[in-house]
Amino acid sequence: MNPTHLARRFLGTLRPGGPAPADAAWADGVLTPEERPLFDRLPAHDRRHAIGVARDVDRMLGAASEPRWLAAALLHDVGKQEARFSVPGRVLATLLVLARGRDRVAAWSGGWRGRVGAYARHGDIGAAEIRAVGGREEAAVWAEAHHRPAGTWPALGWPPEVLHALDAADNA
Ligand SMILES: [Fe+2]
Ligand SMILES: [Fe+2]
Repeated sequence: MNPTHLARRFLGTLRPGGPAPADAAWADGVLTPEERPLFDRLPAHDRRHAIGVARDVDRMLGAASEPRWLAAALLHDVGKQEARFSVPGRVLATLLVLARGRDRVAAWSGGWRGRVGAYARHGDIGAAEIRAVGGREEAAVWAEAHHRPAGTWPALGWPPEVLHALDAADNA
């Protein structure tokens, strides 16, 4: 994650309103009834981000695009809700993760530090939530993996172009 990307994401969070109706309907069509509530509870800026990522993945994959990869894009950050941060808290948590390292922050517990810890673990938390509702395994796997080192991704056994698209669309 580079500073320009972070700044753009932050500015994006300040824009009110949910996704455009056509985008929301598209996401609805990709998600299963089990997955939809996880997506719908996200704040407006997260839903816009997730749809933007999924639309980009769809474009990049072209004929190789499949609903399971789009679901992975739509649900990759659902675990962020657990930390119950509003935008300023998230900015601070993101900076702490960058400054101290995700693994160290992920071990924090208790009170406010515990919430920052949960934010750092949002991938694992999201994966557990997706599995708990019976969402697609690909979505759970990508939620878990998306903040792990890219060097660990080939072990997933996914097509390299899918991994590239999911990563590039999220960090564009
Ligand atoms: Fe994430
Ligand atoms: Fe993301």
